[in-house]
Amino acid sequence: MAKAKVTKEGLSQPTDPKAVMFRLDWEPSTPDSLIQGMADYQREHGYESDLSSRGGTVGLLEQRMAEILGKEAAMFCPTGTLANHLAVRRHCGTKGRAFVQERSHMYLDEGDGIQRLSSINLVPLATDRVYFTAEELAAAHKKYADSRVLNEVGCVVVESPVRRQGGQIVPFEEMKAITAFCRKEGIGSHLDGARLFMMSAATGIPVRKYTAMFDSVYVSLYKYFGAPFGGILAGGSAFIEGLYHDRRRFGGGIPFAYLIAGLALQGTEGFEERFAEAMDKASKLFEDLNQLESIAIHPFEHGSNIFPMRVAEGVEVERLAQRLRKKGVYIYPKEEAFEGATLLHVNTTVLRRTNKQLVQAFEQALT
Ligand SMILES: Cc1ncc(COP(=O)(O)O)c(C=O)c1O
Repeated sequence: MAKAKVTKEGLSQPTDPKAVMFRLDWEPSTPDSLIQGMADYQREHGYESDLSSRGGTVGLLEQRMAEILGKEAAMFCPTGTLANHLAVRRHCGTKGRAFVQERSHMYLDEGDGIQRLSSINLVPLATDRVYFTAEELAAAHKKYADSRVLNEVGCVVVESPVRRQGGQIVPFEEMKAITAFCRKEGIGSHLDGARLFMMSAATGIPVRKYTAMFDSVYVSLYKYFGAPFGGILAGGSAFIEGLYHDRRRFGGGIPFAYLIAGLALQGTEGFEERFAEAMDKASKLFEDLNQLESIAIHPFEHGSNIFPMRVAEGVEVERLAQRLRKKGVYIYPKEEAFEGATLLHVNTTVLRRTNKQLVQAFEQALT
């Protein structure tokens, strides 16, 4: 039988358990670690399947996430793309428009999925910027409200952190003003908080303070909670009620979602503390690295767990990356280039080595 040609896209993740990887928000998983995680869950708690994913282990995860996010109800979705999509659909109902950031995942990375599959027009604001202000939102809303043919806005989506803007975040006060405007105008507000926990760790503002402002929120299950895929959509009971019909409409492994729900449940245990420790350690590490003459790592003004690293003239950053890699430290200048800097993502792999060891690795790689 002819074999299909297998091509590999994207980057492989280092599997050495001592590797420190300044990319992505999570610790790299391996087939072994995932299987082990499932075996641990089965031994310690016991999986409960549910072919419709409306109860069992998925139900437990939904309850737990609703509690963490401070919302009345939560629903598992096989992808974050779907969680956002279902949120916009539900907020909009028969209204045909939603405001989003131009740099958002929803606008740039989903192939116009919402526009094409649900006939809702996403209107982009804040082109090439991290966020739009409440004032800009109000102006855009007024402009379109005066159109000859009425096409009402049903939803405003705020993504924060913004992955395509170096993980920078929308300031808390601006979110407050944006969501207050939505309430005043009777427009649904949705937070694409795929990386909400990174934002909270960076600002010190509790997760629930963010979610309380929005009618609905999505958070990722694989970006840091250790599941291989999936997302949670949370909101009021009436908002989530019956939404599983829509979820089913889009398919996506629902009968076996319980397997990954167990992994995500395990991943939530102690995560916020571990991540806070990683952020604290990394900020001390970057201070130490800034003592080296040829490296400068300073946070963005509205940064989260992503830090731009600049090198002095004459330092070849790709060569630096190759030399660091030999020491088990991974930076990605090609893939993570942003405004002339290399972006370093902080995740819990930074806890795998002492700062002294990491500084030494950089020192040696630079000489
Ligand atoms: C901000 C943001 N929203 C939504 C998504 C979609 O998540 P998923 O890959 O689970 O569809 C992503 C994925 O990278 C994302 O970064």
